[in-house]
Amino acid sequence: MAEIFETLEYGAAPEAPGPALDWLAAHGRKFGHFIDGDFTRPGKTFASTNPANGEKLADISEAGKADVDKAVKAARAAFPGWSQLSGFERAKYLYAIARQIQKESRLFAVLETLDNGKPIRETRDIDIPLVARHFYHHAGWAQHLSKSFSDHVPYGVCGQIIPWNFPLLMLAWKIAPALAAGNTVVLKPAEFTSLTALLFAEICARIGLPKGVVNIVTGAGETGEAIVTHPDIDKIAFTGSTEVGKIIRRATAGSGKGLSLELGGKSPFVVFEDADLDSAVEGLVDAIWFNQGQVCCAGSRLLVQESIEAAFIAKIKQRMKTLRVGDPLDKSIDIGALVAPVQVERVLDLLKAGRAEGGEFYSPDGDMPQKGCYVRPTLVTGISPAHTLASEEIFGPVLVAMSFRTPEEAVALANNTKYGLAASVWTENINLALDIAPQIKAGVVWINSTNQFDAAVGFGGYRESGFGREGGREGMAAYLKPAWEKKLKAAPDLKLPTPADASETTGIDRTAKLYIGGKQARPDSGYARPVLSADGKHLGEVGEGNRKDIRNAVEAARAALGWSNATAHNRAQILYYLGENLDYRKTEFADRIRSMTGASANAARREVDLSVERLFAFAGWADKFDGAVHNPPARMMAVAMVEPVGVIGIAAPLESALLGAVSLLAPAIAMGNTTVLIPSSAYPLAVTDFYQVLETSDVPSGVVNIVTGDAKSLATTLAEHDGVDGIWFAGSLADSTEIEKLSAGNVKQSWTTRGLAFDWADPALEGDYLLGKATQIKNVWVPYGA
Ligand code: NAI
Repeated sequence: MAEIFETLEYGAAPEAPGPALDWLAAHGRKFGHFIDGDFTRPGKTFASTNPANGEKLADISEAGKADVDKAVKAARAAFPGWSQLSGFERAKYLYAIARQIQKESRLFAVLETLDNGKPIRETRDIDIPLVARHFYHHAGWAQHLSKSFSDHVPYGVCGQIIPWNFPLLMLAWKIAPALAAGNTVVLKPAEFTSLTALLFAEICARIGLPKGVVNIVTGAGETGEAIVTHPDIDKIAFTGSTEVGKIIRRATAGSGKGLSLELGGKSPFVVFEDADLDSAVEGLVDAIWFNQGQVCCAGSRLLVQESIEAAFIAKIKQRMKTLRVGDPLDKSIDIGALVAPVQVERVLDLLKAGRAEGGEFYSPDGDMPQKGCYVRPTLVTGISPAHTLASEEIFGPVLVAMSFRTPEEAVALANNTKYGLAASVWTENINLALDIAPQIKAGVVWINSTNQFDAAVGFGGYRESGFGREGGREGMAAYLKPAWEKKLKAAPDLKLPTPADASETTGIDRTAKLYIGGKQARPDSGYARPVLSADGKHLGEVGEGNRKDIRNAVEAARAALGWSNATAHNRAQILYYLGENLDYRKTEFADRIRSMTGASANAARREVDLSVERLFAFAGWADKFDGAVHNPPARMMAVAMVEPVGVIGIAAPLESALLGAVSLLAPAIAMGNTTVLIPSSAYPLAVTDFYQVLETSDVPSGVVNIVTGDAKSLATTLAEHDGVDGIWFAGSLADSTEIEKLSAGNVKQSWTTRGLAFDWADPALEGDYLLGKATQIKNVWVPYGA
C-alpha cells in the first residue's frame, strides 16, 4: 500500500468470479439449447473457454438442423399468442426482462468478462447497462406500436445471429425490438461467447415469458447456416463479418425473408488542427482500444491534419504507455484479452503482412500476462491508404495513422474505404464539424466523441458495412411489415402481344433512343427491338441497350450525385413540374398506353392521371420525409439525418408501364438519389415518351437515365455494378432471386417484387414504403451543454 502511495501505480483490484463460477457449477458446466421455454439435454458439445487464461468454462451444445427446426417450430407455435397480446402486455414482459437484467447485472458482467475477455470495467459500465436500457426503451415501443406504426404487422419468426464482441448487447439489440414488434425469435450467439445468452434464457423463463417466444440455440457457422436457410423463418438479422454477411445475402435471395446486416468497418477518426488534442487522445483510446479494438465501429483509421501530426502522434504514444494490459477481471485494467487464440492469430497475421509492406510500428513496453490472448496496443504510421493495414478490418488493438492537409482531403480519405459504419470528427469549429459530418459516407458520425450508443438512436452502416438500422424508430421499423405487403399473392402471367404479320405496321414507325446524362443516346449495340401493339402490329422500336450502355448510365448517374445537395424544396419543385408537364400531355400518353396494351380509354387515362398524382405525392414528400433529433441519456443530441442511398438501379414492372416506372422513379429522385431506369420490356414507349417531359421539367442531366432493352439482363448488370448503391427490381421470382444474389457483391440494398402482384395504383405505394427504401439514416452525435 505504502509503495503504491509512493509510485501512484494502480494496485490490483480483482472482481470476484465466484458467483459466475457458482452459476456455471449449478448447470454442471454443461448446457443444452433453450427451446420452448426449457433447456434441452446437452447433445454434441464444444468447449467455451476463458481467453484470459485458456481455462475451460463450460461445454456448449452444437445445434444441428434438427435442433434448429425444433426451435423454429416452438417460435412458430408461440407467434400467434405473442403477436396478439396487447402492446401493453408485451411491454410488461420487456420491462420485467430489463428489471431482471439490472438485478443480475453484476453476474452478467462477470460472466461476460470471463467468457469474452473484455475488461470488467466495460461489461459493468457499458455492456450491461446498455442491455437494460434497450429492453426499457423497447418496452415503450411495444406499447406505442399500434399508433406509431399503424397498419404494420410483425414478420413472424426471426432468426438472429450475433457475434462475440458484444455478446449480450448484440442479443439485446436483436431480441428487444423483435419482441416489442410481436415477433418470436430463434437466436444464435457466437460460438466463443454463448454463456450470457444462456443466462438470459434463464431470465426469460424466470419472468414467465411465454414458452417459445425466445429460443436460444448454440453452435458455430453451420448452426447459423441452418437458421439462415430454414424455410419457416421470416426475417434474418445478422451482425458479424462482411464475408458472412454476403453469404447470408446470397442464401436468402428470393426467399422473401426480411434481412438486416450489420457488418464490418474501418472507421475514420478525423482530427483537425484546431481540435482539443488532449480530449481527442482520450477519444482515440475509447475509439480503438475499447474492447481490444474488436468493435465493428472502432475508430481504427486515424486521419490527422498534417500541421499537428507530429505533436498528436507524440501525445498518443505517451498515452499508450499508460494503457494497462492484463487480467480483464481487474477493475483497473484498460485492455483485456482478445476473444480467442484464433483471433490473436488473425491480428498477428495481418500485422505480419502489414510489416512486410512497410510502415513504422509502435507498441509500448510494459507488463503483459504470460498466458492468455493478449496483444499489445499498436500504432502504425508512415503508411499510405493502399496499405493492407489501412484498408482491412483488423479487429484488434491496432491503430493506423495517416495525415491530410485540407478538409476536402480529409473527407476523401475518410471515404476511401469499402465500408461506411461510423466516423469521429474532432474540431473546436462547429461549422467545420457540421460541414464534414454529412460528407462522410457512414451511418453514424460522432462529433468530438466516439463510440456512443443508445437504444433511441439508430446504428448501422452504409456500403459494405451493411444495411438496416438497430435502435431508434428505424430499428423498430426493421421488425415490422406493412400489413398489405404480407397479403400479396403471386401475379398472374401477363399476356403479351405476339407478332401478327411482321410487315403490318401502325404507320408511326420510329426508334426511340436511350436517355443518358440528359441526352438521347444511340445504343452501343446499334440494334433496336420492336415494340408491338396489343394486336401484334409493329408500333415502333426502342434501342437494345447492353452492358456498356448501363455502365455509361451509371457513370452519368454517379456524376450527378450532387443532386442530393439540391434543397428538398428544389427537388419538390422539379417533381411538381414533371407532374404538370405530364398532365399537359396526358392525352398523348393515354393513347400510347392504349395502343401498346389494348387497355380501355378509361383505364389508360386513369394510369396517366395516377402517374401525375404520384409525382405530386412524392413532390409533397420531398421536403417532409425528414429526420429527428434524439435525446440519448448522454449530454448529446443525436441528429438523425435522412440521406439518399446514392445511385439506384430500377427495373420497372412489365405491366403498368408508366405508373410503375413513375411510382419507383419519383420517390428515388425526391430523396436525392440518381437513377438508372429500365422501362417495361413489353411497353417501353410509355417511358421513352417521358424523355421530353424530363427535358422540359428542369431535371438535371444524369439524375434520371433510361436504358431500354431486355430488363432482366440489363438489371443483372446493374446488380453486379459496384457503382450502384441500391437496386429495385420488379419481375418474376426467379429473376428477383438472381438479382438479390448478385446484389451481394457490394452489399447493395435491394428490393424486388418476387413475382408478387403489386397493385401499382394502390395509394400504399405513395408514402413511406418506398421513401424508406430510397433513404438511409445517418445519426450525427453532437455534444452540447456545459
Ligand atoms: P463471423 O462473421 O464468422 O461470425 C459472426 C456470427 O456468424 C457467429 O455467430 C458465427 O457463428 C456466425 N456464422 C459464421 N458463418 C456463418 C454462416 N455461413 N451462416 C450463418 N452464420 C454464420 O465472424 P468471426 O469469424 O467470428 O470473425 C472474423 C472477423 O469478422 C473478425 O476478425 C472481424 O474482422 C469480423 N467481425 C466483425 C464483427 C462486427 O461486429 N462487424 C463481429 C465479429 C467479427
